[in-house]
Amino acid sequence: MDALLTMNIRRAFRDDVESLAGIEKEYPDYPAWGVKGLEAEFGNKHSVTLAAEEEKNIKGFINFWILPPGIQLNAIIVSRNSLRNKIASGLMNKMLEYAKKNFCREIDLEVNIKNEAAISFYNKMGFKKAGQRAKFYNGKDDAVLMKLEITSL
Ligand SMILES: CC(C)(COP(=O)(O)OP(=O)(O)OC[C@H]1O[C@@H](n2cnc3c(N)ncnc32)[C@H](O)[C@@H]1OP(=O)(O)O)[C@@H](O)C(=O)NCCC(=O)NCCS
Repeated sequence: MDALLTMNIRRAFRDDVESLAGIEKEYPDYPAWGVKGLEAEFGNKHSVTLAAEEEKNIKGFINFWILPPGIQLNAIIVSRNSLRNKIASGLMNKMLEYAKKNFCREIDLEVNIKNEAAISFYNKMGFKKAGQRAKFYNGKDDAVLMKLEITSL
């Protein structure tokens, strides 16, 4: 069956943290929060973590901070065996619903310049490059700052 039809997107709970951290571990080259960092997000009143699950298995998640008039997108990550099934697109679209409900007009993020998959994905979702920070990651790789302006509020 089409993955989109079976995917459920819901708020993540503290009990999900091990599963979320497990997905992070699939990408050792990218910054990760780990169990402690993910748990800390549940104590941040601005923070929302959403999980995408198929048949009760979490396949990806997104974390963002609602800081009207904007949203800061901190993480979006999909399990390697579920890539290119529009899971990240579904998570992003759900975040956009939160943006609209909270009168947020722009989404900001930063991404490693070498992360071509993520940059392609963000471009596909309508993000534009808004700047660059030299040697932001580990004192080596530049960060690309990207922004999505929401016009349909
Ligand atoms: C970036 C990421 C979240 C995309 O997740 P995904 O669920 O595979 O993305 P989607 O299926 O929703 O992709 C939507 C569109 O984005 C673009 N895209 C996604 N992955 C791509 C890739 N590897 N190369 C080129 N374009 C890509 C495509 O246009 C794609 O549409 P298509 O499959 O019809 O061509 C995923 O690759 C990932 O988890 N990467 C590791 C973690 C990471 O880097 N996160 C971002 C920084 S926090």
